[in-house]
Amino acid sequence: MLKHIFVLTGAGVSAESGLGTFRDKRGEGIWARFDPMKLATPEAFAGNPEDVLAFYDMRRRNLANAKPNAAHRALARLEGALAARGGRLTLVTQNIDDLHERAGSRNVIHMHGELLKARCQHCSSVRLWPEDLSPADACPDCSRTGGLRPHVVWFGEMPLHMDEIDRALSQADLFVAIGTSGAVYPAAGFVADARAYGLRTFEINMDPADNADLFDEQRYGPASETVPAWVEELVTKGWARNDR
Ligand code: OAD
Repeated sequence: MLKHIFVLTGAGVSAESGLGTFRDKRGEGIWARFDPMKLATPEAFAGNPEDVLAFYDMRRRNLANAKPNAAHRALARLEGALAARGGRLTLVTQNIDDLHERAGSRNVIHMHGELLKARCQHCSSVRLWPEDLSPADACPDCSRTGGLRPHVVWFGEMPLHMDEIDRALSQADLFVAIGTSGAVYPAAGFVADARAYGLRTFEINMDPADNADLFDEQRYGPASETVPAWVEELVTKGWARNDR
């Protein structure tokens, strides 16, 4: 029986909430419209903090107007259903939005950080920060200005919680990747790690990911339909474990 499911989500899970994805086939993804090297690196922040902060201010305002969709809600349901039978869901997201939490998920591991938090580069304190950020803002902890940045992972920086993530992966029975292109490491490498640990691997996506051939099973379609359907099947038709 399935006891521990490890789910990795990407931008595709929040696409139907209106937040946009980074790469898409029509060339309308966030990174087609905005240059990540100018907006999502430590060097960009050091050289031009105003533009970097304005980019994240815009995304924070978009998030304030977004609502969780049926895929987020289904994953919250899955967490509750697994817990009720003594099991566990590890939910790791590459998303910096808070839509999993707003849908009711309790334990969310944000490996790329959180848009609604700010971190001080001087004293490393992390605080909830739902408002715009400015280089003139003083850190509430050390009082220095110029160091507050979104608590997100930029290109060239290490993702967060990697030890906890690897430990959970090594203990899980099933690895599921939802709405992620498999283009950005280390998250793109989790499926290979999962296979090495002997887990079954399952992809739920709109289009096949770059690493789609590493999954034992795939389902393609909008997450708001595919994810609730998969969770409903698990909850109503049983939790048979299907080892590799
Ligand atoms: P991508 O934009 O690279 O990929 C989005 C994925 O979601 C693709 O596989 C799409 O097919 C799929 N998709 C789109 N709409 C969908 C829908 N309605 N239902 C289901 N799937 C859908 O996003 P990520 O893989 O999350 O990192 O990107 C990974 C990282 O790259 C991000 O966390 C971000 C970015 O650079 C940082 O900013 C550090």
